[in-house]
Amino acid sequence: MKCTAVAHSNIAFTKYWGKQDEVLRIPANSNISMNLSDLYTTTTVEFHTSYSVDEIIIDGKKDEKETQRVVTHLNTIRKKAGITQQAKVMSQNTFPTSTGLSSSASGFAALTLAAVTAAGLQLKDKELSILARLGSGSACRSIPDGFVEWVKGESSESSYAYSIYPKNHWDIVDIVLIVSDEKKIVPTTDGHKLAWTSPFFKDRLLRMNEKNILCKKYIAERDFKSFGTLVESEALEMHAVMITSKPSLIYWLPHTVFLMKQIQFMRKNGLEIYFTVNTGQDLHVLCEKKHLKRAVHELSYIKEIKKCIINTPSEGAKLSTTHLF
Ligand code: PMV
Repeated sequence: MKCTAVAHSNIAFTKYWGKQDEVLRIPANSNISMNLSDLYTTTTVEFHTSYSVDEIIIDGKKDEKETQRVVTHLNTIRKKAGITQQAKVMSQNTFPTSTGLSSSASGFAALTLAAVTAAGLQLKDKELSILARLGSGSACRSIPDGFVEWVKGESSESSYAYSIYPKNHWDIVDIVLIVSDEKKIVPTTDGHKLAWTSPFFKDRLLRMNEKNILCKKYIAERDFKSFGTLVESEALEMHAVMITSKPSLIYWLPHTVFLMKQIQFMRKNGLEIYFTVNTGQDLHVLCEKKHLKRAVHELSYIKEIKKCIINTPSEGAKLSTTHLF
């Protein structure tokens, strides 16, 4: 059977950095995110006896490393479904990959839903989230709708993401500021392993539970000022762990830091905006929808920004009838 799924990337408000279990991708702490409307992946999967090997095409290209990771995931799904047929997989992203915009989150969420359905399985969101997590940790957060929490759990079965609120709970916007298309130097999977080498990591873990409780409270109350303040300092704290790892991981470029200072300056001048950043150079700016026009206008004067992508909260992974082949 041939199936297609669309899944959106997500932005973490409290971050997943460091794992309890490397192989099962069980995170060291629970974390909270929102799906992003304009960063998404469409993936078509077909299992068929006529295919002699798995063929994986991502954004029109075949890449050996990516193929290996996708085939491993297909093997897990084939085993679960009790099938042996090889597959053709075609995937298309609406945004640059491997630059820190979480293409593996949308990619593995779309792949999981399309492949599971093409293999003849019907799984609930919880099971899909667990499976997606095995492909890429943050992919488990792109399965449920809107605002999402990934509960760390103690085992594979108890580590999954669920929807805290649907997309229409809160009119907030995430503006991605692209500063460069440069690929990140250290893949995220390798970066996670280094978290434990930072002298600050264990201390961070002690406070994550309280941070998550506060983050959910601010989302529930739609308290943007408290929410933004928490999210921005959380991103900087994750990067403090990265920077103090051994060896040190610095994902930012000079323009990234320049923009952080610009955003803080704009905030001082009365515009309620906050930033967050993942394993890359591009920033995510968060604001309430009522301030979007002014934010975009002020950001348009900054020549260091190559491109802006405006995202509203989005639904989770869904099947589509428009196949890529
Ligand atoms: O799912 P991964 O292995 O790509 O890790 C994601 C790590 C961060 O983007 C830095 C944080 C997060 O929670 O999304």
